[in-house]
Amino acid sequence: MEKILVLDFGGQYNQLIARRVREQHVYAEIKPCDRISVEEIKAAGYQGIIFTGGPGSVYDADSPHYDPAILNVGIPVLGICYGVQLMAYMEDGEICGAENSSEYGKTMVTASQNVLFADVSAESVCWMSHTDYVKTPPEGFKVIAHTDKCPCAAMCDEDRKLYGVQFHPEVVHTDYGKQILSNFLFRICRCKGDWRMEDFAVQTVETYRKKLAGKKVLLALSGGVDSSVAAVLLHQAIGENLVCVFVDHGLLRKDEGDFVEQVFRRQFGMNLIRVNAKERFLERLQGVTEPERKRKIIGEEFIRVFEDEAKSLGKIDVLAQGTIYPDVIESGKGDAAVIKSHHNVGGLPDVMSFEEIVEPLRDLFKDEVRSVGEQLGIPHALVWRQPFPGPGLAVRVIGEITDEKLEILRDADAIFREEVERAELAADAAASAANQYFAVLTGIRSVGVKGDARTYGYTVALRCVSTDDFMTATWTRLPYEALERASSRITNEVKGITRVVYDITSKPPATVEWE
Ligand code: XMP
Repeated sequence: MEKILVLDFGGQYNQLIARRVREQHVYAEIKPCDRISVEEIKAAGYQGIIFTGGPGSVYDADSPHYDPAILNVGIPVLGICYGVQLMAYMEDGEICGAENSSEYGKTMVTASQNVLFADVSAESVCWMSHTDYVKTPPEGFKVIAHTDKCPCAAMCDEDRKLYGVQFHPEVVHTDYGKQILSNFLFRICRCKGDWRMEDFAVQTVETYRKKLAGKKVLLALSGGVDSSVAAVLLHQAIGENLVCVFVDHGLLRKDEGDFVEQVFRRQFGMNLIRVNAKERFLERLQGVTEPERKRKIIGEEFIRVFEDEAKSLGKIDVLAQGTIYPDVIESGKGDAAVIKSHHNVGGLPDVMSFEEIVEPLRDLFKDEVRSVGEQLGIPHALVWRQPFPGPGLAVRVIGEITDEKLEILRDADAIFREEVERAELAADAAASAANQYFAVLTGIRSVGVKGDARTYGYTVALRCVSTDDFMTATWTRLPYEALERASSRITNEVKGITRVVYDITSKPPATVEWE
């Protein structure tokens, strides 16, 4: 199978590069620059190599380098940003860096006639993000593009099939980015482009069948799309040797726990252990009202329950996780301010020791994971499940959590979701942008009247947001009819609720979840 190696020098867009290559039907895999040898590269039979960008300067003492022999194995190389600077530096070109020569954002680039720029306009907008630049290309290389500030925005040594661009062809702001990558893949590397996303499942199953042969693997299944897809892939690879532990903390939505059990145990025939730990969680949450405290308790308790379960299973060799690419970036953010301590099973390895951790979806974006999920026959409701926070309904019951409040919330939430889905089906697809919708049991009680009698019950808030990435979101303009139906059904069908309000706050300033 033809494939491209994306050699990772620590840049922000590395996974995006791999994705852009896969979008052109050539498989791409990412390897850290210091963890693959020239022999391994030769043995893997790559059609081409892309050196990614990176945060440092080639002159930094600890800046990452590649083995110079890579350029001599005859595989075409495309260096991007730091990748081209490094190629120039290691081949004895001249690199300069000065604040006033840095370029950031959309920049006009003038390109000369070259196979890398076939079908690319001579002047076009490219996305730049650099301070250092190649001042003089190494011997054997020629300059094939420039900007006002950057004398060498692209260079190549056609004989050795070595190319480099200072800008980022992988980001959408580079007008001809897709064409430039396509030129590299098809005209320079001579790829055929016959790989399909569907092949990912087949290859991954094959890889893990060999890699995990005879090993016992444990996976924490949450019922979310990522861990579900990882579970099905690994189950196809190693069958009974995969043990999935589903910790039901009692904070799931209506019927969700049973649904997960039904899908994985009955439909897929997996070795699934459902741990009903509701009592444990509720006990620890008793009297707790502070949101961060709730999150911490749930995170800790989750680990304990999982640990207890793992111990009772005897020797487990490998921990599998459904980590996907956006989780990898988020966890790499480091110093970003903590708005909420997100709880994901990614925290597990710190407290448990396994021989190895495998993450079969680590290189994929959410939509790619969904497409693999569909392919594997995972039910639509699960593959397209809206995001659901690890701490579950605990962050949607404001104030102290009780069994009674959870029951009320579950019923109200189920009605609201049903009504949004009903409204969405009726609406034209382009207008329906309800990306996440749920009910919140506010701590407020208010007076109502039912059948001439005074009532005093909870206020439920409905939340529905439209967003691409959940970093920012706007409240969804749901049809009034849908809101009315939801409100009327909730107050009629759910005991204990007297009032329904709709949250019309965007993010920022509010977050999606109330706690
Ligand atoms: P916020 O409330 O931070 O939510 O605006 C953004 C998105 O993240 C989800 N969310 C979580 N997901 N663990 C998760 O896996 C968590 O602890 C968590 N908290 C919030 C939230 O539902 C929304 O989609």
